[in-house]
Amino acid sequence: MSRLANVVFLLSTMLVAMPASAKDGQYGIGTPATDSEIAGWDIDIRPDGKGLPPGSGSVEDGEMMYEEKCASCHGSFGEGVGRYPVLSGGEGTLTEERPEKTVGSYWPYASTLWDYIHRSMPFPQPQSMTDEEVYAITAYVLYLNDLVEDDFVLTADNLASIEMPNKDGFFFDDRPDTSNTGCMKNCKDPASVKITSEPSIATLQEEESVAVIEVAPEGGEKIYQQACLMCHGAGVAGSPMTGDAAAWSDRIALGREKMVSNAINGIGVMPPKGGHIQLSDEEVASAVDYLIEQAIQD
Ligand code: HEC
Ligand code: HEC
Repeated sequence: MSRLANVVFLLSTMLVAMPASAKDGQYGIGTPATDSEIAGWDIDIRPDGKGLPPGSGSVEDGEMMYEEKCASCHGSFGEGVGRYPVLSGGEGTLTEERPEKTVGSYWPYASTLWDYIHRSMPFPQPQSMTDEEVYAITAYVLYLNDLVEDDFVLTADNLASIEMPNKDGFFFDDRPDTSNTGCMKNCKDPASVKITSEPSIATLQEEESVAVIEVAPEGGEKIYQQACLMCHGAGVAGSPMTGDAAAWSDRIALGREKMVSNAINGIGVMPPKGGHIQLSDEEVASAVDYLIEQAIQD
């Protein structure tokens, strides 16, 4: 910046910093958003239909509008033109190597479709359509996915009742750290906390392209380091800490077999196999043996 520009810049920041009408506790810039401005942004639709404007549209009406406004990119049957997104089909492919995620195969709620189309489509003219058009085109895209019949009329009242095939494919994140509660008193001294990272990805063997963990006779310790230490090493999420005889004695008393099956199937917040489902049952068992050894050593 030249020196003159610096001065101009400085002056302009001073002007902003000293508004004539500064009110208490406010910067004195901007104006409160009006109800209609807020309404313009507040357009999200909830899975239960909350947020939908009144209105309706039929598959039949939607067909022509779709052909005119959407088919050039998404194809007449939702098959996608070129690299534009495919909107239909793909059922049962989610577990395949190349899943085809479409409205029908992937989306959990029909409300997302109304919201998405209303908010952002057609791509070059977002929010250019009337609510009635959005209802009709949404109905038609549902029809392309065999989710409604050809005489179906979509309304603000029936949208939430449409069952999407993959609605159960989503769940709340249940990994242990998502349910931790923040420590508010008598917390650990941060200086005493040591963050370490352990590779949890299986080692790649040279000749083979698949990742496998070697289980040597002493393999339990290795498995433990890769898959269990991250929790048991520090007692994360209430896990019994490695080598803490008191923490393990009751569990050991119930028998190795029970412990192994709990470690394989998960127990409490510990996910099956500690989350490392690529491990075989034998590998998990060898890590349990290692944990037992550590607990009963003096
Ligand atoms: C000019 C091309 C074009 C047109 C016309 C167009 N779209 Fe799209 N559409 C896109 C692109 C590009 C995306 C991906 C946008 C992104 O991922 O940010 C998309 C995404 C979508 C998606 C989400 C797909 C997914 O699985 O993520 C839906 C649903 C959709 N469009 C519906 C429509 C509808 C309905 C119309 C007609 C009203 C329409 N589109 C018109 C280009 C277009
Ligand atoms: C994400 C954290 C986490 C990981 C990773 C983890 N555990 Fe655990 N583990 C726990 C927690 C928490 C408990 C206590 C659960 C309870 O009793 O409610 C537990 C309990 C156990 C128990 C006691 C079971 C019983 O019968 O009482 C064994 C054995 C065990 N884990 C073995 C393992 C092994 C082996 C691994 C590695 C393959 C492993 N854990 C990885 C969190 C973890």
